Amino acid sequence: MTGLKAAVIGCGDVSTVHFEAIAKLDGARLAAVCDTDPARLAAATAAYGVPGFPDHLRLIEAIGPDVVHITTPHNKHASIAVDCLDRGVSVIVEKPLAHTLAEGNRLAEAAKASSAKIAVCFQNRYNATSQAMHALLSSGELGAIVGASATVLWHRDADYYRSRPWRGTWEGGGGGLMMNQAIHTVDLLQWLVGEVVSLSGNASTRFLGDTIEVEDTTEFVALHANGARSAFYATLANAVNAPVALDIVAEKATLSLRGDLTVTYADGRVEVVPERVVESGGRAYWGVSHELLISDFYARLPEAGPFWIDSAEAEKSLRIVKEIYRQSYPELTELVS
Ligand SMILES: NC(=O)c1ccc[n+]([C@@H]2O[C@H](COP(=O)([O-])OP(=O)(O)OC[C@H]3O[C@@H](n4cnc5c(N)ncnc54)[C@H](O)[C@@H]3O)[C@@H](O)[C@H]2O)c1
Repeated sequence: MTGLKAAVIGCGDVSTVHFEAIAKLDGARLAAVCDTDPARLAAATAAYGVPGFPDHLRLIEAIGPDVVHITTPHNKHASIAVDCLDRGVSVIVEKPLAHTLAEGNRLAEAAKASSAKIAVCFQNRYNATSQAMHALLSSGELGAIVGASATVLWHRDADYYRSRPWRGTWEGGGGGLMMNQAIHTVDLLQWLVGEVVSLSGNASTRFLGDTIEVEDTTEFVALHANGARSAFYATLANAVNAPVALDIVAEKATLSLRGDLTVTYADGRVEVVPERVVESGGRAYWGVSHELLISDFYARLPEAGPFWIDSAEAEKSLRIVKEIYRQSYPELTELVS
């Protein structure tokens, strides 16, 4: 068989969308899987009919993959990605970049020194609505950005954490709601509105305190480099997973995201940009764009230079989240950074 060899490391919940996306690629094929959990490894080797390894270094040695998809808990992202990049193997790593700032920085340095490429799965940047917002805001047509607001009103219960204990711990997840769910909206906010230069925020555990040690609710106000101010609120205490709400107010229009995007111009015109609806094995709140990011990464592998959502890009949202933790948990500085 010819084509690029792909491998998936971590065969848990989100791996399904990576397996689906790899199966649809032209010029690449799944060559191996890896999981430290014997039952998950056995299930994946049976489902996908490829060799399985309990250790990523043994997989790299035996298979020589071109691209490795890292879909493990957060505290394994950086160490596995650095091992791949040091061996010239390209990486698609799930968000966040890493569970700590130090590990994120180590990964960014390894990426700079490597001949291989890295993508971080901020797939929502590929949503039709995100692309439309970015194009409109950077065209200059709307004038300066005045400010923004975002809310993430989602639902997670104790069972979500009991089924995967790493998600509720500082050691495994590096944080809770902000690191696992709301970081997508933080990434969009800083990509669309501009670099965050300062913020005042608070993270707290409001309703899952008997199950998790990390936060389930957060708010912050941020100042962006262009002078715009944004207000942000996120919680996992909502009864349902409501569509992420993101409003960006510019001089000549307001952009309002609620699944679809509504653009209301100052002169009274209103335009609606619908979001794509795609059938996949993934959960609805993961969005529709994993496949787009993954196929774009493979298509751009032969190009010179880094992929556009690389470790340096992903460090921006990690820094914002860790700054909120630094302000919220002064007594836990070592643990939360
Ligand atoms: N982009 C998105 O929309 C999105 C959605 C869901 C999850 N995620 C991310 O995907 C990642 C995985 O999340 P999940 O919910 O699928 O977790 P999960 O716990 O269901 O799966 C993780 C798997 O990794 C395995 N694993 C742990 N350590 C390993 C190691 N050293 N080597 C190989 N395998 C190892 C575990 O045994 C498990 O099977 C996280 O980073 C999460 O934030 C992203």
